[in-house]
Amino acid sequence: MNHAPLDVDALRRILRGRRFGDPLFYFEKIHSTNERALELLEQGFPDGTLVLAEEQTRGRGRRGRAWLSPPRLGIYASLLVRPVADPFLLPLVTFAAALGVVRTLETEQDGKTEIKWPNDVLVDDRKVAGFLAESRGGAEEGAAVVVGLGLNVNQSRDDFPETLRERVTSLRMASGRIWDRTLLLTALLARWEEEHFRLLERGGAEVLSRWERYSSLRNGARVRADLDGEILQGLFRGLTPLGEMRLEVEGGNVRRVAFGEVHRVLGEA
Ligand code: BTN
Repeated sequence: MNHAPLDVDALRRILRGRRFGDPLFYFEKIHSTNERALELLEQGFPDGTLVLAEEQTRGRGRRGRAWLSPPRLGIYASLLVRPVADPFLLPLVTFAAALGVVRTLETEQDGKTEIKWPNDVLVDDRKVAGFLAESRGGAEEGAAVVVGLGLNVNQSRDDFPETLRERVTSLRMASGRIWDRTLLLTALLARWEEEHFRLLERGGAEVLSRWERYSSLRNGARVRADLDGEILQGLFRGLTPLGEMRLEVEGGNVRRVAFGEVHRVLGEA
């Protein structure tokens, strides 16, 4: 099946003068939009610079994994965010982004839409989108970060390797229809921008409490966390003001977990 490219002229028209997406860099094929956005960050490109690609040949996922980015099927986007005056807000920039995406998907399709800590977006319990935040450069430049979004849109089951099929989905697989990626991206950038400026203007607490409404893990959920090799079991106890997970481990101690992967242990609390 032939899939339509993004309508980049329409995107440029819509995004002109907006805080996110002007300037806009568009590539048919690239190693990684995050890699390109990091170069632009080093070259001094402004806050809101957006890099889009139809295909990535070395799409990067969290924790050193690859992000499959077949041509014209997903949204592969990297946004440059600078400077963030309050360094405490920096880790929350991705939480605001995830909120923007989850709110968009909630209104555009019927599946159950949630966020799994730290910021995986799930539809009907399967991962549909992920974020990778990366930064470079010294403190003298002010805090700056690239936030990369990978969203599975028009993939069908066969577009994923067998090892992933039970855990991932696309909007097409969840809804049974082909999506217009240009319209979706436009809606998503508007919500992302709204959530981002809410974070900068009102601070982290509000974003985190809004985020918690979408959390796939409720307070007290029994989880297993993989912290790059260290495995911990415990009870999910919400988030710290920096977006770390609070994990109650044996003996009632609460560990703050800043990175890693978490899975609910089924059949229990
Ligand atoms: C994850 O592992 O959940 C994060 C995936 C992030 C993928 C996106 S696709 C656009 C941007 N460019 C990359 O190389 N990675 C991110």
